[in-house]
Amino acid sequence: MVLQDKELKEKALNAVEKNKDVVAGDRFRLTYHLMPPVGLLNDPNGLVYFQGYYHVFYQWNPFETKHGIKYWGHYRSKNLVDWETLPITLAPSDWYDKNGCYSGSAVVHDGKLFLFYTGNVRDAEGERETYQCLAVSNDGVHFEKKGPVIHLPEGYTAHFRDPKVWEESGRWYMVIGAQTVKEEGVIVLFSSDDLETWEHHGILAGSNRNGLADFGYMWECPDLFTLNGKDVLVFSPQGLEAEGIKYNNIYQTGYLVGDFDRENNNFTHGEFDELDRGFDFYAPQTLVDDNNRRILYGWMGLPDETEAVHPTRKHQWIHALTIPRELELVEEKLYQKPVEELKQLRGDHVVFDDVDIKDQSIKLPKVEGKTVELAVSVNKSNADVFTLEFGSVAKLSFNQTLQLVTLERKTIKGDGVHSRSCRLNQLSNLRIFLDKSSIEVFLNDGAEVFTARLFDYDNDPTIQFSAKGTINIKVEKWELIL
Ligand code: FRU
Repeated sequence: MVLQDKELKEKALNAVEKNKDVVAGDRFRLTYHLMPPVGLLNDPNGLVYFQGYYHVFYQWNPFETKHGIKYWGHYRSKNLVDWETLPITLAPSDWYDKNGCYSGSAVVHDGKLFLFYTGNVRDAEGERETYQCLAVSNDGVHFEKKGPVIHLPEGYTAHFRDPKVWEESGRWYMVIGAQTVKEEGVIVLFSSDDLETWEHHGILAGSNRNGLADFGYMWECPDLFTLNGKDVLVFSPQGLEAEGIKYNNIYQTGYLVGDFDRENNNFTHGEFDELDRGFDFYAPQTLVDDNNRRILYGWMGLPDETEAVHPTRKHQWIHALTIPRELELVEEKLYQKPVEELKQLRGDHVVFDDVDIKDQSIKLPKVEGKTVELAVSVNKSNADVFTLEFGSVAKLSFNQTLQLVTLERKTIKGDGVHSRSCRLNQLSNLRIFLDKSSIEVFLNDGAEVFTARLFDYDNDPTIQFSAKGTINIKVEKWELIL
């Protein structure tokens, strides 16, 4: 039997209350990132700017540090730095979402907030059902469920979810991540005049609609938006095989840039490229704010086997969101930049304008720590390899000869080392955000990004710079304080 909404929400709040001390006692708990108060967090959901606040909802299992029943948790902020916890938004209390209020999005219409999400249901035989559901709020705090607005159309399996809705010239559009009955990953398009009646336009991308055949068995969490005159489709395909340095995580996240012909529901696009080169990034979503910035949050995690060995599970929580990143499109490439507001976190500052490194390893006074921002720019370089080491837990290196950036880290379990790489012609600058057990690296003004969790069981705060050959750099470091 499905428990009442109120009861389910109370159960979750009790789990928060019961575990809050053990969660707070975790030395790997992040400081300025959004995390679950207890239990498991996965995708960012419903990102929206509404009545002066940024709203971030998230997939949340309050009862376990693994996937299971999903609620929508809710944070809001005026400045993307200081966050307030709001009442639980959605609990899986109805016949159409009883096995999970899965991912979705939010739009503002007539002064109200409209949430679209996937109701995940298992029938009596354990077969999956999927409903795209609506919930509405006047104040952005309390939500009323309205039930399903879209039932599964023909041609797809029940892996049909994660509605992302937006408005253009008085018309509403929705993209959904789906799997065809031939088990191909696709993005499906709907449109509507009133947010309640939705017309199905079929496949927008995948299944060789405009290229991209045999590209995974399921595509999750789509987002489609216009940036710098182009249309960008972000999604998370499952089932890609690794190809050299590409697609090395269990599932991928990337984007297509092209032109979305709204009249004919046709999206012509270029090649798929990965959005993040690190170990822990999935299911991102974006919002536009009142300054017309396109801001992205990702899940700093992946649904994979390493979850079982995360040390934070002992402390009854797992996973976090990335820092917010402003997107820019430059020559069909997405750049990600930490939003300006994060400078408010900056505390103690040191700067070294002119650091020479020649076939050696060096440390700089006070350039160390676990919750810091680091900015490095290259003044001049003849080095073959330039490396930054973070204790013994991670190493970031740029190899000029190979034109390759590599992030190596100790595995989450701590029993080995593995790496992720991407191509880069030349290194001009780096910005790095460390937060207790995470690293986010932005190279060349955000042209490439590496996101990863780092569990340093040795708790070594040193940061070391080294070069093979000669390099001259400027280094700045800030303590980050919330
Ligand atoms: C992506 C995802 C979504 C789904 C949600 C369930 O991580 O699998 O497709 O809606 O997580 O929590």
